[in-house]
Amino acid sequence: MRDLLSIKDLSKEEIISLLDLADDVKKSPAKYANSLTGKSIALLFEKTSTRTRISFEVGMYQLGGQAIYLDWRSTNLQLGALPDEIRCISDYVDLIMARVFEHEQLAIMRDASQVPIINGLSDIYHPCQILSDLMTIREKSGSLDDIRVAFIGDGNNVCNSLVIGCVKLGIPIFVATPKNFQPHEEVIKWIEAQKLCQFLKISDNPSEVVEDANILYTDTWISMGQEAETEERLKIFKPYQINSELLKSAKRNPFIMHCLPAHRGFEITDEVLDSKNSIVFLQAENRLHLQKALMLKILEKQ
Ligand code: CP
Ligand code: NVA
Repeated sequence: MRDLLSIKDLSKEEIISLLDLADDVKKSPAKYANSLTGKSIALLFEKTSTRTRISFEVGMYQLGGQAIYLDWRSTNLQLGALPDEIRCISDYVDLIMARVFEHEQLAIMRDASQVPIINGLSDIYHPCQILSDLMTIREKSGSLDDIRVAFIGDGNNVCNSLVIGCVKLGIPIFVATPKNFQPHEEVIKWIEAQKLCQFLKISDNPSEVVEDANILYTDTWISMGQEAETEERLKIFKPYQINSELLKSAKRNPFIMHCLPAHRGFEITDEVLDSKNSIVFLQAENRLHLQKALMLKILEKQ
C-alpha cells in the first residue's frame, strides 16, 4: 500500500488486513506505542475538520511520531505551485494527509510527492471515514456476513466511498437519493467495470431502501463548499430525512450511522441520532484506531 486516494486503491485483502490491525491497535494500544518513533506526518487542510485532524494528530503521537497541522491559508500552498510546495513538504516528512476541495489536486500531490499521500476527504471521496466505518460495522455486528447497508441522502463523497467499500467486500448496499444526486458517475462506471453491479441498487424512495437494511447511514445534505446551494438543497432533500416515521419501514432494527458533523433536524432527527441503535460516536472513536493502523501499514511497520 502506498497512497490512499480512494478505497479503489485497496484490494479486499488489504481492507480486511487493515481492519484486523485496527482492531488490535484498539485492543492493545501499548503494543504500538513506539512503532513510528521519529516519523512525521503533515496534515494539510483546505477545509475545516474535527475528527480527521484529531484522529491523525493524536494517532501519530500515540505511535511515537509527530503530526504537523497545516492550514492551507496560513502556508504558502496558497502562493506557490502545488507540485513545488508538495515536493518540499515531502522532503521533510514521511507521510502527507490532505483534505481538499478538488479530488484532482490529490493526484497532482501524489505525482509531486516523495512520500505517500492519504486523502482526508475530497469532493468525491472520504476513504478514511469509510474504512473506520467498516471496522465499526464489523465490531457491532460481529462479522461482515449478512450485512445490508442503506444510505439515504446526498450521493456525496461519503456515499461514494461507502458504496465502493461495500461492493469491494461483497456487502449489498441500497442507496436512496433524489434523481440528480446519485453517486458519482466515476463510481458507477468503476462498479460496472469491476462487474460488481449485483451489490449496488439505487432508488429515489427512502422507505424502499430501509426495509431490509441492518445498517442505515446518512450524511449532511450540504457538504463543505456547497453552502451557496443551501436553500435549494434543503427543499430537495427534505423527504430524505432519517426519522422515526421512516424507521417504521425498517424490518431489521438497523444500526444508525452518520460520519458527523450532523445537522440535527435536517438529514437526521435528534430522536434517531440519540437512539439506542445509533453508533455514531463509536464511528467517531474508531477513526483514531483505524488511522493508526493505516499509518502503520503505509509506513510498512505492520
Ligand atoms: N467525519 C469527519 O471527517 O469529520 P471531520 O470533518 O470533523 O474531520
Ligand atoms: N460530506 C461531508 C462530510 C464531512 C465529514 C462534507 O464533505 O462536508
